[in-house]
Amino acid sequence: MLIRSEIGVDAAGIDTLLRRCFDTGKEADLVTQLREDGLLTLGMVATDDEGQVLGYAAFSPVTLNGEDNQWVGLAPLAVDESVRSQGIARQLVYEGLDTLNEFGYAAVVVMGDPAWFGPLGFEPAARHQLHCRFPGAEAAFQVYKLADGAFSDAEGQIDFARPFTGA
Ligand SMILES: CC(C)(COP(=O)(O)OP(=O)(O)OC[C@H]1O[C@@H](n2cnc3c(N)ncnc32)[C@H](O)[C@@H]1OP(=O)(O)O)[C@@H](O)C(=O)NCCC(=O)NCCS
Repeated sequence: MLIRSEIGVDAAGIDTLLRRCFDTGKEADLVTQLREDGLLTLGMVATDDEGQVLGYAAFSPVTLNGEDNQWVGLAPLAVDESVRSQGIARQLVYEGLDTLNEFGYAAVVVMGDPAWFGPLGFEPAARHQLHCRFPGAEAAFQVYKLADGAFSDAEGQIDFARPFTGA
């Protein structure tokens, strides 16, 4: 399995994968919208020997109290059912964090299961007085620090890009 950044030719495979992995087409539509709006900061794909997309992680900008602090949100994350439990999702996230770090991004936020993201180094956002708009999401809302000092003086509300809220 090759883990690499998304390129143009991957778009159709990503769309198909997301439609397979999620019950509705919402995530696939979301990624298409982010791409069209120029809001896909980074997409990581896992491809097999034939170049078929079997895993995907998308990162897009988030704001802190309405301001751009070079933070991004991870969503969606998906791996084809046929190749799950082989650490592919973990690799997609790690490679994504690495690339974002090289590009100078400061932090990554995610809405997900702490049992899965915790061991990867994500911590509860609430620990840093960071919260999101979605009610009842406190336990699932997590952050990962890329830049030293990213969380000093940073507290308040994180907002995902417009396609997530439909605003
Ligand atoms: C969640 C998902 C991306 C994991 O992909 P993966 O490549 O199998 O992940 P990894 O191999 O890196 O890690 C798998 C391990 O995490 C565990 N795991 C998976 N989902 C988990 C969850 N929500 N909470 C805790 N552990 C979880 C699995 O049990 C597995 O452990 P095992 O190998 O001992 O069985 C994949 O199951 C998927 O695409 N699911 C459907 C889409 C989805 O729910 N995406 C996440 C929200 S956007």
